[in-house]
Amino acid sequence: MPQFASRIGRAKPSAIMEIAEKAKRLKAEGRDIISFSIGVPNFLPGDHVYAAARDALAHDSGQYGSNRGSDALLDAFLGHIAQIGLDGYTRANCAIGIGAKHVIYNLAEALLEEGDTIAFPVPYWTSYLDIAEIVNARVDLLPCPASQDYKLTPAQLDAALANKPRVFLFNNPSNPTGMVYSKDEISALADVLVKHPDTWIITDDIYNRMVFDGVGYHNFVHARPELRDRVVFIDSLSKTYGMPGWRVGFMAGPESVARAVVTMNSNHITNLPEVTTAAAIAALSGPQDIPQAKCAEFQAKRDQVMAMFATIPGVVCPRPQGAFYVFPDISVAFGKTHQPSGLAIGNDVDFCAALLQAKGVACVPGSAFGEPRALRISYTCPTPQLAPGLERIREFFAELA
Ligand SMILES: Cc1ncc(COP(=O)(O)O)c(C=O)c1O
Repeated sequence: MPQFASRIGRAKPSAIMEIAEKAKRLKAEGRDIISFSIGVPNFLPGDHVYAAARDALAHDSGQYGSNRGSDALLDAFLGHIAQIGLDGYTRANCAIGIGAKHVIYNLAEALLEEGDTIAFPVPYWTSYLDIAEIVNARVDLLPCPASQDYKLTPAQLDAALANKPRVFLFNNPSNPTGMVYSKDEISALADVLVKHPDTWIITDDIYNRMVFDGVGYHNFVHARPELRDRVVFIDSLSKTYGMPGWRVGFMAGPESVARAVVTMNSNHITNLPEVTTAAAIAALSGPQDIPQAKCAEFQAKRDQVMAMFATIPGVVCPRPQGAFYVFPDISVAFGKTHQPSGLAIGNDVDFCAALLQAKGVACVPGSAFGEPRALRISYTCPTPQLAPGLERIREFFAELA
């Protein structure tokens, strides 16, 4: 039998999807399941987005389109990022992808030779590691535990960049922790980045519109404009506009990097469909009331989740200020047993399995994100489910001994 390429042996199915599948199975068996597992925003875009899609369908050319993204879409994206202070970019600095994940995958192919190093903080979004493994990059994981609010320090960054990794991959606001770097923190990291000119900087900031408490969104090029030659900013419609299934992602960065992504696109996806493009333009340029309302709703839900964890002795839960995740360190439960079910909890995977089995609540083990002392709660479920789901988690902790 012919052999597979070795890279497919390194590719792993998503750990998050495995939990979601198990929750779905239990639901199909009639169990009452509350899911805090998948990182989806759980709302739909406004009517104007669907109207634009229908109109595009009515006028469809049926032709291939631009590998970079249509001019109108790139202009809408440029207008969108100008609102967060990323101005001075042109269409030549941009490229689209089938979601941010695809843009990051393209960048990994474009920037990393086999054996090159990519450095990123832990906890990390699961796909960073998976993509790095597929392209056979060496990974330098920079541990950022709960005790440092899951945030990278300038000293850690300086030490990592001294080894001249080809790429430093950053994520702000963070999935899975929800942490947001303040203006001063970004500035301090940017000061380190300018000292290390051999490293590309990818900043995956797809949750940039979901920032709470007035802390604002800050970017390395805001802090040190000279980094523009090396910083690649990533954005997406998925979370901001409730459009994860529409698959639209973007990059803005150096022209040479955008050109490389366009070359990759020309060799696999070719273009975004016209209907998707029209919907994306409408989302970016139309009324922003739904994303703004959702951001306010998520902030209130964050408060509800934090209030529950504050009642559980021993759980360490840094306060997230963005995205829609909470990432408590639940290692206080390790070595205990859930008394009513008899399920023993040795680690985060046991904890999540027992919580799902005993209480019908699905969360993702922190080890999926490189932090096995924690679990991730994605709190975008319908509002009436949040309080009962949190109460079940509180009960579960109370039943451990
Ligand atoms: C940090 C981060 N980056 C990228 C993505 C992928 O987004 P997209 O749906 O645009 O591919 C996700 C999705 O969960 C994410 O959390």
